[in-house]
Amino acid sequence: MSTATTTFLDGPFAPVREEVTAVDLPVTGTIPPELVGRLARIGPNPVTPPDPANHHWFVGTGMVHGVRLRDGRAEWYRNRYVRDADAAGALGLPPLPGDQPGDGVVNTHVVGIGGRTFALVEAGSRPIELSDDLESLARCDFDGTLDGGFSAHTKRDPASGELHAVTYHWAWDHIRHVVVGPDARVRRELRIPVADGPMVHDCAITERYVVLLDLPVAFDLEAAAAGARLPYRWSPERPPRVGLLPLAGTADEVRWFDAPRCYVFHTLNAYDGPGGEVVVDLVRHPRMFDTVHNGPDEGATTFERWTIDPGAAAVRTRQLDDTGQEFPRIDERLTGRPHRYGYAAAVGDGFVLGPAIKHDLTAGTSEHHHFGAGRVTQEPVFVPRSDDAGEDDGWVLSYVHDAATARSDVVVLAAQDFTGDPVATVHLPVRVPLGFHGSWLPDP
Ligand SMILES: [Fe+2]
Repeated sequence: MSTATTTFLDGPFAPVREEVTAVDLPVTGTIPPELVGRLARIGPNPVTPPDPANHHWFVGTGMVHGVRLRDGRAEWYRNRYVRDADAAGALGLPPLPGDQPGDGVVNTHVVGIGGRTFALVEAGSRPIELSDDLESLARCDFDGTLDGGFSAHTKRDPASGELHAVTYHWAWDHIRHVVVGPDARVRRELRIPVADGPMVHDCAITERYVVLLDLPVAFDLEAAAAGARLPYRWSPERPPRVGLLPLAGTADEVRWFDAPRCYVFHTLNAYDGPGGEVVVDLVRHPRMFDTVHNGPDEGATTFERWTIDPGAAAVRTRQLDDTGQEFPRIDERLTGRPHRYGYAAAVGDGFVLGPAIKHDLTAGTSEHHHFGAGRVTQEPVFVPRSDDAGEDDGWVLSYVHDAATARSDVVVLAAQDFTGDPVATVHLPVRVPLGFHGSWLPDP
């Protein structure tokens, strides 16, 4: 029996039906001229109406949205279905080139690698490469270098430019550490034995380690046999643990530490502490897919710092903020390095998002930017003012959903005046349903 409070198909989650192209968008305020590129994001948008009684938010057809900024103008807005095999059929379009096993929904992240744009998902389906205009180009296995599916979440090591990910599949007896070079080709794959087919949504890196999350959500054969769209279930009998894998290490070198019984979709960041410990900031859910089987809505989240001391058996946890929140992001130039600031979206009942949050983890404070009545942010994305600007010297961009007007805006906040008036608001002609992740994709 599910105790879900939303179908993830209504209100701000309701899918849109049209693919839209709009040019020369109206803007309130002034778009900083340094912002030259695309703000892309993606989320589920079922291409055919699902059965609400057997729907899961995570399995809806992907739709990618983008706004292109240049010379202080908002040149265009586009939204496009991400053309997996089912979407191609429903839309009466030919399947993409490169179709192969792993041709499922792709709806979780959109990232740039080597000047190319990729839509990503976890758990078996391969990426789909997109054009600069967000059209689906091809199912992609990184030029034949990717075995199996990929992950939605990559961590780019600023020292090497390499992207680290952890991939999984229900039928595997292991998880994989996969490293993709700036040339969008896999250059390392390491298999780490793990039992039960856990859901591993994210990882973290430091200058020395990959942080592996093996938490108690795992593939459930009974749920699969019963027709569950996402057959992963809370598995409290599985010991929760966090692993440290040296960046170039072997599976034998992984050290595991006891972790709290909870679930973590997202890390904010991790880094090596001065005493050899590893610090990981993350969003903690009390449990996942226990009583609610259509989305990530199992009670209030908290923002925590986990410290992994190599001399201890268990991670040490400290709550940083008890405000419900998700989609944590940093200034990604600091991936794997000590960070002071983090940005996130507040989460309320029914997993409806709210204000944008900025954390100052040195001062131990947080600020909330309220976008107005009925206006809620999606995942905020930090963009630095320049390559050598300091941390937090830049802008926080997000798609903001307005329930009253059934339209969305792209709002640009000055990161260092977070609660002040937006620097710019780009008015879109349509809604952008609440979805998952996105990236600022600067022009080369
Ligand atoms: Fe995610």
